[in-house]
Amino acid sequence: MITSSDQEHMRSNQRGWNTRVAAHLNSTYYNLDEFRAGKSSLRRLEKETVGDVQGRSLLHLQCHVGLNAIGWAKLGARVTAVDFAEQALATGRSLADDVGADVRFVYSNVFDLPKNLDGEFDIVYTDYGVLGWLPDLGEWARVIAHFLKPGGVFHLVEIHPVTAAFTEADGDLELTPLLFTDGPYEYEVTSTYGDEYGENRQIPSYTEYFWPYTTSRVITALMDAGLRLEVFRETPVDCRQRFRTMVPDPDEEGCWRLPGDPIPLTFAVSARKPA
Ligand SMILES: C[S@@+](CC[C@H](N)C(=O)[O-])C[C@H]1O[C@@H](n2cnc3c(N)ncnc32)[C@H](O)[C@@H]1O
Repeated sequence: MITSSDQEHMRSNQRGWNTRVAAHLNSTYYNLDEFRAGKSSLRRLEKETVGDVQGRSLLHLQCHVGLNAIGWAKLGARVTAVDFAEQALATGRSLADDVGADVRFVYSNVFDLPKNLDGEFDIVYTDYGVLGWLPDLGEWARVIAHFLKPGGVFHLVEIHPVTAAFTEADGDLELTPLLFTDGPYEYEVTSTYGDEYGENRQIPSYTEYFWPYTTSRVITALMDAGLRLEVFRETPVDCRQRFRTMVPDPDEEGCWRLPGDPIPLTFAVSARKPA
């Protein structure tokens, strides 16, 4: 159940995400110049996880500035992309125009989406940095089940929560007790990701609320919503340099690994709504 304090916390996060967009526009992480020139932002893991999208209807939740949503459209999916940061959606719309992609962008909180959008989809998809902003994974999973056609599949590609169990101090990774707590964690944000390690962009400060999750909580929420787990995959590859000790992945440009691959850094889940 989403409580009134959850709503308040999400409104603060929403203000924050709108604030972050300006800093992301000229960041090396999003690299909009390369994107406009035709480079796809889809990585190997999400392409392998989702598979062929040609002609399929695809609902992309928490799409941010829309790069991967546009990527699916360019691969032939009929894409509806949702986010609650108006600034991010405005960027997505303009990028879609720039590259000639047809994406329907919808402004909504994920939890309000059944009131704001009609229809059912072959695929529901979400990726990289989405779960920690959601106060109720059970309700999130029910929204996903609501929008899947019978036989449709939900795909998640997400930063592994184990990364939140570590913090970096003086170049070493130290354990934090975050993972098995309920949240929300409240902290002040003064910068955002987007550039080289240690070069986060300063932004006007805001209070952010973060709900930790474990992979088992994610999978249980999806199963409780009636979906059948088909794939659970963990990889030692990260979508950005989260820790100083990470090195570029020799197998994929823009991806990073810890030397020796000691922990999972990303995970993927596919779960089907029974036909
Ligand atoms: C880290 S970004 C997702 C990043 C995206 N995968 C990318 O690489 O650009 C998180 C996104 O979730 C959105 N978001 C957070 N909570 C949300 C909610 N309750 N409903 C809708 N969007 C939400 C934020 O506005 C933000 O655009």
